[in-house]
Amino acid sequence: MAVEMTTRPGPRSQALIDRDSVIMSGSLTPRYPFVIERGEGARVWDVDGHEYVDFAAGIAVTATGHSHPKVVQAIIDQAQKFIHIAGTDYYYEVQIRLAEKLAAIAPFGENARVFLTNSGTEAVEGAIKVSRWYTERKHIIAFYGAFHGRTLGALSLTASKVIQRDGFFPLIPGVHHVPYNNPYRCMHGREEQACRDHCMCIDYIEDVLFKRVVPPDSVAAIILEPIQGEGGYLVPDSRFVQQIRQVCDRYGILMVIDEVQSGIGRTGKWWGIEHHGVEPDVITSAKGLASGMPLGAIIAREHVMSWPPGAHGSTFGGNPVSCAAALATLELIEQGYMQNAIEQGEYIHDALEEMRSHHPSLRHGRIDGRGLMIGAELVLDEKRTPVKELRNRVERLAIDAGLLILGCGESALRFCPPLMIDRATVQEGLERFERALTGAEQEAGLL
Ligand SMILES: Cc1ncc(COP(=O)(O)O)c(C=O)c1O
Repeated sequence: MAVEMTTRPGPRSQALIDRDSVIMSGSLTPRYPFVIERGEGARVWDVDGHEYVDFAAGIAVTATGHSHPKVVQAIIDQAQKFIHIAGTDYYYEVQIRLAEKLAAIAPFGENARVFLTNSGTEAVEGAIKVSRWYTERKHIIAFYGAFHGRTLGALSLTASKVIQRDGFFPLIPGVHHVPYNNPYRCMHGREEQACRDHCMCIDYIEDVLFKRVVPPDSVAAIILEPIQGEGGYLVPDSRFVQQIRQVCDRYGILMVIDEVQSGIGRTGKWWGIEHHGVEPDVITSAKGLASGMPLGAIIAREHVMSWPPGAHGSTFGGNPVSCAAALATLELIEQGYMQNAIEQGEYIHDALEEMRSHHPSLRHGRIDGRGLMIGAELVLDEKRTPVKELRNRVERLAIDAGLLILGCGESALRFCPPLMIDRATVQEGLERFERALTGAEQEAGLL
């Protein structure tokens, strides 16, 4: 295939990148040279006039696409009425309506209570607090590969990349990390099939952690992502998730499911946990909830979220404009985008499977996911040796090919476009992806 690409960034983009580089905090992850001018649906344009297909959706955030007219209208209508009043002190209907809607779609058969935040990390902070408050226990179990956020409590649970934690110790005490189930690559080095046939990872909690490190009756919560996001768009075996529920039930531990990335229809169901046939006690939500407006939520079983007035609060959490955007978002997702996520997701999955035969770096890697949360691992050989540099190069060349796509995990790429993306745009995005992949493989001498 001919590799046609325009070198980017253009001059206006470059000038802005140069200004950014001397003024913004250097802590932001290394970024790709795309400077947005505007977006519409699943397409964006840079300040030099180049057009791109968006397979990144601002890290799985712009669920209804860029600036969906109904979301924009809801924002305008609410902003014209009032922008802020402080839900900690006064009431407003748009917040109540959103909480009622979230409670109605909560993935457990019990009444729910809702606390609204501004971000994913804040939702996780609150989930830690409500778990400690309710159980009167201190310890939390989290998983290797997990990403739960950057504030100190959530960061203590995060075990994705050491750079995210380095320099910030001591983190909160009482957090214990254990292996997450990877049906494709067992952390214990066991034969792959052993991990598939009988999930050994769960034994680690009972046989090692509870016997040697921490008594189970001092553990407040086990927190996990139903599909690991930053960890590589990794879908665990459902038996693993079900066994965690059993451990929680056995010892009176709360099961907290972090749906910040996997929730709000992204996987073709409201919540990623619904794919595993398990009902959690608490969930956290954020990214897709308000199509890009800052909003997060903790949704808990009513008897769990029974903390008293003053125990937790937030000035901006549940901002009325964000709540209005969320109500419009949820309506659009319910009315068809969730079903679209299933159909377009299957198409992307099958297309990637087909690409295996002519792309050596895709040949042996994991291609997995649910709905429009699909990960494809780039690896060198049958042993699945990760090729991070090649993955990074694909991300960069994708910009030149007119595609936004982000990496995750050691050497995976995530396909998480807006949930409204249509077939023609999916196909165009996949063609551009293949162009970038071909370019990177040629440079690496693989083709
Ligand atoms: C699963 C998960 N939890 C929490 C967070 C933190 O969310 P935020 O960046 O909004 O603080 C993220 C962000 O990527 C996430 O993927």
